[in-house]
Amino acid sequence: MSAPAGVRQAVILVGGQGTRMRPLTDTLPKPMLPLLDLPFVERQVDHLSAAGVERVVFSCGYRPREIEEYFGDGASRGLQVGYVVDPEPLGTAGAIANAEELLDDDDVFVLNGDILTDLDLAALVAHHRGLGAEATIALTPVDDPSAFGLVRTDADGRVTEFVEKPGADQLVPGEPYRINAGTYVLSPSARRAIPHGQQVSIERDTFPLLAARGGVGAMASDCYWRDIGTPGSYLDAHLDLLSGRVGFIPSPGAAWVSPDALVDASATIGPGACVGPGAVVGAGATVADCVVGAGTSVGEEAMVDGAVLGRQVTVGPGARVTGLVVAGDGAMVPEGMAVAGPATIPTGSVASP
Ligand code: GTP
Repeated sequence: MSAPAGVRQAVILVGGQGTRMRPLTDTLPKPMLPLLDLPFVERQVDHLSAAGVERVVFSCGYRPREIEEYFGDGASRGLQVGYVVDPEPLGTAGAIANAEELLDDDDVFVLNGDILTDLDLAALVAHHRGLGAEATIALTPVDDPSAFGLVRTDADGRVTEFVEKPGADQLVPGEPYRINAGTYVLSPSARRAIPHGQQVSIERDTFPLLAARGGVGAMASDCYWRDIGTPGSYLDAHLDLLSGRVGFIPSPGAAWVSPDALVDASATIGPGACVGPGAVVGAGATVADCVVGAGTSVGEEAMVDGAVLGRQVTVGPGARVTGLVVAGDGAMVPEGMAVAGPATIPTGSVASP
């Protein structure tokens, strides 16, 4: 399939430290955290591929090896896949400039590696070309923009203003609140505006610079959109998926259990439970609204409800893990202990009551 408007190359930004997702990102880069049976970022690669993209460059920094080992050269999926690694954190624009050596002198899609969306990429390109923009940003609506960057446009869809974390006095009652959705089309001239080899933010540095010369377009869309950058949002992405709200990924049903998991016949798999490969759920245990990572074991009569458990976590018999408890790989909740979220159990640690 060819891209309707001919954008055939993409950069996925996957080099961030994922600090808000710790301890899950102690051992895996955020884009490689699983969403049911696949690494999260694989959904993005599939989305790009379906839109006609033939070359994907991963712009890496933190823990690049996991990404490179998984995707290889891309040949098995009919793609050219390349990698660049920040010599030091370069920021979102610096990381795009770092990928330039693997790009053609043509338009490119740029994706933040932590966004789950079915954005119409062809429409984004059509908007970009229609305006003759240097850069075009997808926008998503929010109820409250105070924690985000509000993007204002004119009637043609050209950016007039960025307002970072707007205060109440900067909001106009009744205006649609739209924020940067982390998917862009960048023309070569936009990329030439990024200084090489230094830390540059596309949101704070490059887009305002280009907007000042009228070069930035923005396309509003009401498609499914979720930033999985926090444990709560990561869990919600799973719950959305199971409840069919994601749309473009078929729901496996009210709960998902990997075919490679071992669940006792007397265990209760409640709605919203996601049980990864190699996980074990013991007799009489209950799991609901939670992510149970690969190789994790939930002991007999234990309960896990509302938590995100990494890989090889042990929940002892009769333990209760409720609310947003985030457990790093190899963490342990001793027999009979109750842990209520919000709480974090560091990688490899034993929970304290
Ligand atoms: P936090 O530390 O929790 O804020 O997460 P993060 O490091 O992922 O940062 P953020 O969510 O702002 O990043 C958005 C996207 O850009 C993510 O997919 C990151 O992997 C990526 N990213 C952020 N900073 C860099 C960087 O300096 N270099 C590269 N290559 N990618 C980056």
